[in-house]
Amino acid sequence: MKKARIVGTGSYVPEKVLTNHDLEKFLDTSDEWITSRTGIRERHVAAEGENTSDLATEAARRAMDMAGIGAEEIDLILVGTITGDFPWPATACLVQDNLGACNAAAFDISAACSGFVFALDAGVNYIKAGAAQNVLVIGAEILTRVVDWEDRNTCVLFGDGAGAVVLQGQEGESGVLSTHLHSDGSYWELLYQAGFGTRIQPTEQGIKDRIPYLKMQGNEVFKMAVRSLSDVAVEALETNGFVSSDIDMFIPHQANRRILEATAKRLKLKDEQVYINVDRFGNTSGASIPLALDEANRAGKIAEGDLLLFDAFGGGFTWASALVRW
Ligand code: ACO
Repeated sequence: MKKARIVGTGSYVPEKVLTNHDLEKFLDTSDEWITSRTGIRERHVAAEGENTSDLATEAARRAMDMAGIGAEEIDLILVGTITGDFPWPATACLVQDNLGACNAAAFDISAACSGFVFALDAGVNYIKAGAAQNVLVIGAEILTRVVDWEDRNTCVLFGDGAGAVVLQGQEGESGVLSTHLHSDGSYWELLYQAGFGTRIQPTEQGIKDRIPYLKMQGNEVFKMAVRSLSDVAVEALETNGFVSSDIDMFIPHQANRRILEATAKRLKLKDEQVYINVDRFGNTSGASIPLALDEANRAGKIAEGDLLLFDAFGGGFTWASALVRW
């Protein structure tokens, strides 16, 4: 059976950088508080008129350039996002139009910060089933448009960006070895964004009461994130007969440095095995893993034959892993 191999990576972040010191100017916070609690120093913020589909399209173009693949060769476009341009149509359809990928089916996957790994799983299974040969998998977000900029508990954590991979069906040892997905909807209220779905109608009072914006119970999310990220990583390793020291690069969802360090400690990973860039991008939700992957790849930090583990946790709750032989 063919494996789904990652043959190109790409990423894009908006030009504008918002540092912790910039936040100090309009929020009761400090660089010291944010850095010590989260490891985040700065994040990129989309410009007015710049939308999630624009970020996604640029990341996709870069991944396709690396793969040496034309738009008409793409069979399927999957976008993991919770901050699409519109409730519908899917951001994936807007990306398809931008790229001129006229032979591709396109749809979005909503799994919050696990969105990219959920979308990757779908792409892998389309390829394994013989239903697609070239799949574009994208994680793209503009979280800065859905956070409450008056809520210092949450708005300091997030940033904007996009990352993409081209998956291709190939024979051989390299490719995605396994994916594992989990969800537990009973925790939805710990991390969600209310508006504007069918439960909340846009009203002036609702906006005054900050109802449509992202809400999070940080302490609870922290504990569940560490436990779930560790469990799903162990599940991936055990399924494939590996131990944590076999991993060449662990690429977790970049939620915040303390979550990543606690997870790495539980998994007994050494610092040099763990890729962290949350300090420069903040939490970019579904974009964070492909953004980190592309950064590591373009810096020449990944060699053929390396074992990579993607590990995600997000609202829903959702959590997921993908083990990849590069
Ligand atoms: N600046 C200054 N003070 C702040 C800020 C801020 N930005 N935010 C909160 N505080 C204050 C609080 O008001 C509180 O003050 P009080 O004691 O006077 O009430 C104090 O800091 C401590 O608040 P806690 O919430 O207990 O702080 P904690 O140490 O738990 O850190 C944090 C908060 C960073 C959000 C932590 O809970 C966390 O990392 N949670 C995980 C959340 C996360 O990463 N979510 C991302 C989405 S989920 C995902 O991607 C996996």
